[in-house]
Amino acid sequence: MVPFLPLQLDRESRVPLQQQLYDEVRSAILSGRLSPGARVPATRALAADAGISRNTVAGAFDQLLAEGYLEGKVGSGTYVARSLPEDLLRARRPASPVRKLEPAGDLSRRGRMLAAIPFSAARRGIATARAFRPGVPALDEFPRVLWARLAARLLRHAPDAILTYGEPAGYRPLRQAIAGYLRAARGVRCSAEQVIVTAGSQQALDLAVRLLLDPGDTAWVEDPGYLGARGAFRAAGIRTVPIPVDHEGLNAAEGESRAPEARLACVTPSHQFPLGATMPLARRMMLLDWARRRRAWIVEDDYDSEFRYAGRPLPALQGLDSSGRVIYTGTFSKVLFPALRLGYMVVPKQLVDAFVSARALADRHPPGLEQALAAEFLAEGHFARHLRRMRALYAERQQALLAALRSEIGDGLEVAPAEAGMHLIGWLRNGADDSAVAQKAAEAGVLVTDLSAYSMKAQLRPGLLLGYAAFTPRQIREAARKLAVALNSVK
Ligand SMILES: Cc1ncc(COP(=O)(O)O)c(C=O)c1O
Repeated sequence: MVPFLPLQLDRESRVPLQQQLYDEVRSAILSGRLSPGARVPATRALAADAGISRNTVAGAFDQLLAEGYLEGKVGSGTYVARSLPEDLLRARRPASPVRKLEPAGDLSRRGRMLAAIPFSAARRGIATARAFRPGVPALDEFPRVLWARLAARLLRHAPDAILTYGEPAGYRPLRQAIAGYLRAARGVRCSAEQVIVTAGSQQALDLAVRLLLDPGDTAWVEDPGYLGARGAFRAAGIRTVPIPVDHEGLNAAEGESRAPEARLACVTPSHQFPLGATMPLARRMMLLDWARRRRAWIVEDDYDSEFRYAGRPLPALQGLDSSGRVIYTGTFSKVLFPALRLGYMVVPKQLVDAFVSARALADRHPPGLEQALAAEFLAEGHFARHLRRMRALYAERQQALLAALRSEIGDGLEVAPAEAGMHLIGWLRNGADDSAVAQKAAEAGVLVTDLSAYSMKAQLRPGLLLGYAAFTPRQIREAARKLAVALNSVK
């Protein structure tokens, strides 16, 4: 192990610590101060040494790994790359008359900040649909033949309205179908005018925070919580304050005591991500009361409420809002498929024009054919049928996962059935390192996500997210077997 660099991190700087660490290690590699093949310390040790969070170190290392400066795997030995990418080698030659290309250095401050926010699974190289990746629906059971038939019919007869520049708020028949669905199934109070079709809920989160908050403003985020929301907020220059969630989700009183100045709260009240709590009525009323009193905003991310297997689903928080403070977001990623990139938001009437203008500046409008296809899928009743089938299927797959974990792992992992959602949490014994387990599991060919990856400050019992919706019982059993091996190897 090399004695690692004397790190010079400036806590007062506006440049995030993660970016500073990335810059230091990268320039040490380029200047030769860290030699090819040298082992770099484990994220945990480096974080402790430098007095910064392990997530910060892991984020910087992830980026260096993705860009080819480091190789190996975070957690199981990381090394300076033996052969650096060609252009970097060229950049090291001092005599070059051409100004050096500094990919990170040439970015704006905002660009560097954006590039350093860890979010995309694809960037982290885990875009595969391998068990137990959470949040992916049953692609094997998607009615592809029907979808293809509708698509072919649509393409043959596509009216010009679908092929030309469309409305920034989305294709009208789809907005009408979404409004009808949300009113009936989710108790959302809206007209089609208030529905804006987005590129998944990610775009909705991004628009909401940029239109409603200014850089430097504060938002409450659930801890543990969804990285996509936290990332979008940080990208907009928002200070995110983690509010711990309990078995009833986020508590507005706790939020007010931690960050009374907050202008927005982002919540998943139907099914807290990732722990699964449903927010009861009293907490919902408290949150709405806070938003009304403080003229603050609530972003309700209703990402997978369709999948509930027992008990009655609580209608959306938006339906209780009489002050126009809730922005509701939903997605077709879970109920159809994620690559469709169609989601929606419902905004208070007086905000529609502003949101639509901003949306047009980002990417004009959603894709015409996909919207028309989704509209037909809903209008012809296929959507409702597909949902019913998937609900029954996911309940079975959850049972298959519980059975496989019981027989392959037994006491090594504590799991309880869940009434909703697409993943379970497997609790490890206290003191276990869930990110090390996730790393070992990845080496054994099974994809589990450590709960600690979703927490900011929350001191959680270590656990693993185990997605089951996308996998057949056979794939689930095989993955459980591999997970058992990985768990044994870290004992
Ligand atoms: C909490 C949460 N919100 C939203 C989404 C959906 O994101 P999108 O609609 O951009 O695919 C996900 C998907 O993983 C999620 O877990």
